Amino acid sequence: MKTLFSGIKPSGDLHLGNYIGAISQWTALQEKYKCLFCVVDYHAITVKQDPKALRKSILDIARVYLAAGINPKKAIIFQQSDVSEHTELGWILNTITKVAELEKMTQYKDKARDEKKEGPGAGLLNYPTLMAADILLYHTDVVPVGHDQMQHLELTRLLTKRFNTNYGTTFTVPETIVRKEGARIMALDNPAKKMSKSSQSPNSYIALLDEPMVAHKKIKRAVTDSDNKIKYDPDKKAAISNLLAIYSALSNKSVKELEILYEDKSYGEFKEDLANLVANFLTEFQARYKKYSDKEVKKILNKGAKEAKAMAEKTMKLVKKNLGVN
Ligand code: TYM
Repeated sequence: MKTLFSGIKPSGDLHLGNYIGAISQWTALQEKYKCLFCVVDYHAITVKQDPKALRKSILDIARVYLAAGINPKKAIIFQQSDVSEHTELGWILNTITKVAELEKMTQYKDKARDEKKEGPGAGLLNYPTLMAADILLYHTDVVPVGHDQMQHLELTRLLTKRFNTNYGTTFTVPETIVRKEGARIMALDNPAKKMSKSSQSPNSYIALLDEPMVAHKKIKRAVTDSDNKIKYDPDKKAAISNLLAIYSALSNKSVKELEILYEDKSYGEFKEDLANLVANFLTEFQARYKKYSDKEVKKILNKGAKEAKAMAEKTMKLVKKNLGVN
């Protein structure tokens, strides 16, 4: 069975973009692969976190995985900092990474801009090498993510090949999996911007823990355009295309089917149906979310850490042998 790895940072509320771009792919793929789903806490601390909030957020992210339908009997769910091999391999990968390759990353440039006053930390710059370590430790074949992680994945692939060339074949070169529609869910109030947890305007995103009626209102208020045609065309009709991508992901109807279904309908009718769909999705999701106690989540994370650690140790033995440090 091939191996799948993915992860989410415990920093702030997850939103519909995270769910559609990443998590919904995971649940669909979990039967086909040996899966590892990580809560990447060492990535979260590349920007300042409050320790109390971080501790809560780690459990909440794992709870989201479970509520979304990840089966802990089949998949490994674990916390990155529980497996110290991630940072160990991250360091090693830093030694084959060029500073210029890291400075080129768009996410780094965006985040560095947010840290104008004191300047970006070294952890922000080295973020992609830790991400590459996450993936390579488990000889991962596929990594399902949203569009914004594709550049990091390209760098991971480059580093994998470089390591294998320098030190002999050690790692599997991973493939990226992104959704055809929904890899980049846009802000509801501005379809030129990505839906993001760091947005200042709560109307721009739907948090997975938003009250269903609040989410309903946000969809009804979402911007559209003036031609009243429900057609998927991200370049010319970004707002409606975004709503179609959300609708398609949550209903399992293809965008084509939706275009036919809403051919003679107005934006108002389309948005009412989508608002109900989103509200129902959240109601059901949140009911499952509330079922998992902290104790239960911790137990699942501990079991996952043991399983991941055993795999990671094996890889590190090979890495050290090939590097000549053992
Ligand atoms: P993070 O925590 O920022 O986001 C988690 C996942 O959600 C996706 N995503 C979106 N997808 C569609 N539309 C959006 N608006 C949207 N916003 C976010 C992201 O693409 C991501 O898949 N670096 C990663 C975490 C990570 C990781 C890894 C992922 C660390 N190590 C190894 C895969 C493999 C991150 O910060 O994701």
